[in-house]
Amino acid sequence: MRQIYLDHNATTPVDKEVLEAMLPHYREAFGNPSSAHARGRAARVCLDLAREQVAALIGAHPAEITFTSGGTESDNLAITGTARALKDKGTHIITSRVEHPAVLNTCEELRKEGFTIAYVPVDSYGRIDCAALAGMITDDTTLITLQHGNSEVGTLQPIEEIGELARARGVLFHTDAVQTVGKIAVDTQSLPVDMLSLSAHKMYGPKGVGALYIRRGTPPLAPLISGGGQEKKRRGGTENVPGIVGLGKAAEIAQSRLESDRLHVSELRNGLRQRIESRIPSVQFYGHPEFNLPNTLYLGFAGVEGQTLMIHLDIAGIFVSTGTACSSGSILPSGVLGAMAVPENEMIQTIRISLGRGNRPEEMERAVDALEKAVLEIRSKTGFSAGLAPK
Ligand SMILES: Cc1ncc(COP(=O)(O)O)c(C=O)c1O
Repeated sequence: MRQIYLDHNATTPVDKEVLEAMLPHYREAFGNPSSAHARGRAARVCLDLAREQVAALIGAHPAEITFTSGGTESDNLAITGTARALKDKGTHIITSRVEHPAVLNTCEELRKEGFTIAYVPVDSYGRIDCAALAGMITDDTTLITLQHGNSEVGTLQPIEEIGELARARGVLFHTDAVQTVGKIAVDTQSLPVDMLSLSAHKMYGPKGVGALYIRRGTPPLAPLISGGGQEKKRRGGTENVPGIVGLGKAAEIAQSRLESDRLHVSELRNGLRQRIESRIPSVQFYGHPEFNLPNTLYLGFAGVEGQTLMIHLDIAGIFVSTGTACSSGSILPSGVLGAMAVPENEMIQTIRISLGRGNRPEEMERAVDALEKAVLEIRSKTGFSAGLAPK
């Protein structure tokens, strides 16, 4: 049985070309970029190239890219680094309840340090209420941190508007773009963002490497990792050269196929949604109908627990997820759906399907067959009759 991977928001397979670019850096090209000799200098050249590749993908200057160990560290560095650096100016930070745990838990840690965290409400699609945000900014606010794309329901945030609001009030704006970079165009030249997090493993690069874009002119962040002064003293420690080379290559590939990848996954996603709607009754879709990640479908079937459905599909060799990857394993209802005011009985019925560049139309056919079979089976066991409201 051929397996079908439909969980690309959790992680993506490493592209063959990316792996090929990385391998020499584990072998003969193993130099430390801080070494002054030829082998060290060669590694430095590769870091510089990767920095250019990442910068090019998001319309940035290479000097604005700081390499990190991934999206989580980028979020931590942007948020904690800003909060601590500017704490004499103010201690008020604005975020939302639909953020990834990398942002939510970082803000929670800052709250314990004495910072005040305010949460902007979202609508039923999970989109930020900008009018509410405007009223929440105070003279004490130093940072707004709001995501670009939601990893669960796929809703995109109005980051242009949010950034303009922040700028008008002299507040720094960080966006977690881990789910959007590589999937849709992200251009820091036109977007009013000061800091932006991205991660390699969401765009066919390796795990454990990412970057933080920091706009030139942004006040210096307080580093989280002190060490030998790497990354312009923003992040100490010998650089993960193979990983960074992989990130650079993944960024270059993503840039060259951004539009074709976007079209490919959105066509598959739209077709999948239509087939599901026409074949399986009592299905509900979540997330914004217009402003959404092109590859993501978040849905729930009345009378069918998401966890049970995920297991049925897993047995059939089809991999989807319930909730974010980082919280899977726990069956706590999703905080994102809570913020969207989704009723609790619906929350536990949801699954996420997230497509990638390797998915094929025939896989969508098989996925719908498997979904239909699993939903029918589960409903027959629980005595649910489609068309009736779930208990
Ligand atoms: C929106 C978002 N932010 C941050 C992260 C964390 O990134 P990483 O796994 O590279 O630490 C993820 C990963 O799931 C994510 O989806």
